[in-house]
Parts: sequence; C-alpha cells; structure tokens
Amino acid sequence: MNAEAGGSGGVVAAGRSAAGSPTAGGFVPSALGTRAHWDAVYDRELQTFREYGDTGEIWFGEESMKRLIRWMQKHKIPLDASVLDIGTGNGVFLVELAKFGFSNITGIDYSASAIQLSGSILEKEGLSNINLKVEDFLNLSSKLSGFHVCIDKGTFDAISLNPDNAVEKRKQYVRSLSRVLEAKGFFLITSCNWTKEELLDEFSEGFELFEELPTPKFSFGGRSGNSVAALVFQKS
Ligand SMILES: C[S@@+](CC[C@H](N)C(=O)[O-])C[C@H]1O[C@@H](n2cnc3c(N)ncnc32)[C@H](O)[C@@H]1O
Repeated sequence: MNAEAGGSGGVVAAGRSAAGSPTAGGFVPSALGTRAHWDAVYDRELQTFREYGDTGEIWFGEESMKRLIRWMQKHKIPLDASVLDIGTGNGVFLVELAKFGFSNITGIDYSASAIQLSGSILEKEGLSNINLKVEDFLNLSSKLSGFHVCIDKGTFDAISLNPDNAVEKRKQYVRSLSRVLEAKGFFLITSCNWTKEELLDEFSEGFELFEELPTPKFSFGGRSGNSVAALVFQKS
C-alpha cells in the first residue's frame, strides 16, 4: 500500500481528542504507538516476504522517498555522509539510499521483527554494507552519534500515539535527536499527524526550519490543505 497519507489508508493517522490540541497531548492514544503492534505488523510482513517476496508497506508512498532523496541531491549531501533512518521498518528507504549511492547508512527500529525483515530485504538486494540495529530511539543503548542526516518517516507519528505518556515520549524524542545529530546536521521528517506549525513547535528547541518540502494538497468542502507535512530542520 503506497498511500501518500500514511499507508494502510492512513492507519498511523491520529484521532485528535476534543480535549485539546495535540501539543497538549490531545491525540487519542492507540495501539499504533506500541511496540507490540509493530512487532505483530513486521512478523506478518516477514512471513509474507518469505513466502511471496513482497517487501510490504511503503509509508507515505514511493514519492515520499524520492522527495527526500531529491532534497539530499539538491543540497549536495555528500554520498559518504552518515545517514540515520529512525524507525526504519522494512528498510526499503535504506535500499533506495544505497541504490542512489549513499555509503554510510544506518537503520534503527525498536521492533526486532522489523530489523529481521529489513535485514532479509537488504540481503536479497545484495546490500551488505548497511548498519542495522534494534534500538529504541527513546532509550538509546549504543553510542549512536555524529549523524549528518536523520530521517523520520512516520516514526514520530507512531510515538505520538503511545498510550503511556506520549507528551514525555515526544520530549525524549527531541532529546535523542539532539544527541544523535551533529551540529548543523539535518533532520528530515514526514508526518501525517502533525501540521507544519505543530512540528515547528515540537522541534523549536535546538532546531531551526531549513525548508518545507512540497507535498500533495487536498481540497474538500471548500477547504484545502496538505494531508502530509514534510519538513527539513537544521540543528542549531
Ligand atoms: C509508520 S512506521 C514507518 C516505518 C518506516 N519509517 C517507513 O517509512 O516505512 C513506524 C516505525 O517506527 C518504529 N518505531 C516506533 N517507535 C519507535 C522507537 N521508540 N524507537 C525505534 N523505532 C520505533 C516502528 O517499529 C515502525 O517501524
């Protein structure tokens, strides 16, 4: 499923509680914010990959990957720059980066099944020089640091839906990002739960908006807007 608005008909998209704005923690908590959910998803996708060779969901669609790589190309990000994909899932974006020529790529995910699936996909593609690690981005165990580019496609969205204190988890996400990204490094986030303005607020401490990437517009009932936000921040 390659829907631009978040795959599986937008399954990672949040319901907003009547109680308040998302910055006040107003997303309705969901199983989509839990590791058990993602383990079950990637267990299933691993099985499907083994049986049929299908790599599974591409969150936000093929275009979302092209959009990010176009930006990296336009800004002449060196091919040996260190790139971290936060919550890599099936790792298909890692494959795209490697095919484009990036040679210093790391993918992390807190779901061991996701890392198993991405490992199998990379192996099938003959890509052996990509670092893969089971890592909880909110509780980093290893010495991950010094990345020039960090990518998030749907992971901050998922974390925002965690039923257990999502507000604190979002704050921890920003702290972890500050830790892994080098000074003046870039953070590219694609989200279907947060608007541009909300993301600017979430990442206001230590990060500056560098560029907004164009995403498809919707128009409905006299209103128009973007169902997906794609922003580039630079660490200050
Ligand atoms: C919506 S999926 C997106 C997957 C992938 N980025 C893509 O574009 O296909 C969200 C991913 O975030 C991962 N994830 C959620 N919370 C995480 C955390 N705290 N640390 C690492 N990975 C996490 C999930 O396991 C899942 O793979």
